[in-house]
Amino acid sequence: MPVNLSAIPELPQDEAFAITADFRADDHPRKVSLGAGVYRDEHSKPWILPSVKEAKRRLHATPALDHEYLPIQGSEPFLTAAQELILGQRGVAERGPVVSIQTISGTGANHLAAAFLAQNLKPKHVFISDPTWSNHHLVWQVAAPGVMQKTYPYYLPTSRSLDFDGMVSTLELTAVENDVVILHACAHNPTGIDPSRDQWRTLAELVKRKKVFALFDSAYQGFATGDVDADAWAVRHFQQTLFGTETTSPRPQGMGIAQSFAKNFGLYGERVGAFHLVLPPRAPSSGALSQLLRLVRAEMSNAPLFGSRIVALILSDRELKTMWKEDLQTMSGRIKRMRSILRHEIERHAEVGDWSHLENQIGMFSYTGLSEEHVARLKDVHHIYLMRNGRASLSGVTEENAKYVADAIAEVMRYYAGG
Ligand SMILES: Cc1ncc(COP(=O)(O)O)c(C=O)c1O
Repeated sequence: MPVNLSAIPELPQDEAFAITADFRADDHPRKVSLGAGVYRDEHSKPWILPSVKEAKRRLHATPALDHEYLPIQGSEPFLTAAQELILGQRGVAERGPVVSIQTISGTGANHLAAAFLAQNLKPKHVFISDPTWSNHHLVWQVAAPGVMQKTYPYYLPTSRSLDFDGMVSTLELTAVENDVVILHACAHNPTGIDPSRDQWRTLAELVKRKKVFALFDSAYQGFATGDVDADAWAVRHFQQTLFGTETTSPRPQGMGIAQSFAKNFGLYGERVGAFHLVLPPRAPSSGALSQLLRLVRAEMSNAPLFGSRIVALILSDRELKTMWKEDLQTMSGRIKRMRSILRHEIERHAEVGDWSHLENQIGMFSYTGLSEEHVARLKDVHHIYLMRNGRASLSGVTEENAKYVADAIAEVMRYYAGG
C-alpha cells in the first residue's frame, strides 16, 4: 500500500498533558489543578527545593565545570549515588553486581528496561497493575511491541483497598519463567495504596519461585513517607530475598529498577533518572552492560548533564543531603496535611459519606472514587481538573482552596445522586 503521510489517523492527546493545557487556558479565578503529578507549594506554585537551589549556587560558582558529553553510561558519581539511594549501602556492597545506566528520567528508564528486556530476556508477557501510571502500557507498546501485555488486578473499588488475592492468583496462574512484572516501589500511581510488608514478602517469594523478573518503578522515593529508606524497603527486600545469598534453588535471572528523580528533587524538566539491573552474586555483567550501552548510544548517545550534577552533589554532600531530607519532609508533610484538611471539609457534607481513604492513601495522589461524569462536571462547572479515572493530585490542594474543592466534590456527588 502506498504511504500517505497526510492520511495518518490522528491519535487522542495524552490525557495528563491535555489536562495541564486545558487548565492553563482556563481563566476562571478559582480554577484548581488536581491533574498533573507535580508538587505545588502552599500557594499552588512550583517549588524549587532549597537544597537544589543551594546545589545550583555551588555549581554556578565552580568555573571549572565544563559542558562536555557524559559517557554513554552516564555520570559515574551520579550513578554511584543513585544506586546507593535505592539499594542502600549494603545492597550495593554485599550482593550481586548492579549494572546502572543514566536515563531520561523515569520514563526513559522504563523505556530502556522494556527494550533491553524484550531483546535479551525475551519475556512472553509483561504484567502491569490495573490500574497503573498512564504511560506503562504505551512505553511497552512502543519499546517492546513483541511482548504481550497482561494486567494483574490491584484495586478493589468496593473496599477501596488492595486486591492482593487477585494480584497473587493472577501472577501465580498465568506468569511463566522470565515474564516481567512491573511493581510500583512505593506510593502506587494512581491508587496511593501499597502492599504491606508482609504482602511484599509474599510477592518476593512468588517472584523468586516462579523465576519472573521484577521491574520496580521507583518514581516517589522519599515522597511517600518522607523517609527515603522506608520508601525503598520493598526494593531492598526483593534484592535481599532474590540475590542476598549464594543458592542453588530457583530464582530469577535478575531484577530491575527504573528510578526517577523528577518528584523527589523537583527536577521535572531536567529529566534525571537511572535504570539499574541487579544480577545474582558473581554473575558476569559485562554482556548486559554492553547491550544497555548499545541501546543508549542509538537512542540518545548519552544522558543530559546538568540535573545529574545537582543530584550527585546533593547526595554526596552531608549538609546538602540533610537539607534535601528536610525538603522531602516539607513536601510529604504538606501533602499529608492537605489529605486531612480536604477529608474533613468533604465529610462536613454528611451525605457524601466516608472519605477516610483520602488520608489512608499515600504519596502524591488520591484515587478518589469519583466517576468520569463527576470529573467532567468538576471541570465544566467548578473549573477543577483531575484525571478521568478520578485520580487527584493532592499537591494542588491548599488551605485556601480546600473548602472550595470539597464543596464542589459534594455538589457533583449530590448532582449525580439526584439530590
Ligand atoms: C509511576 C511512575 N513512573 C514513572 C514516572 C516517570 O516520570 P518521569 O519520566 O518524569 O521521571 C511517573 C511520573 O509521573 C510515575 O508516576
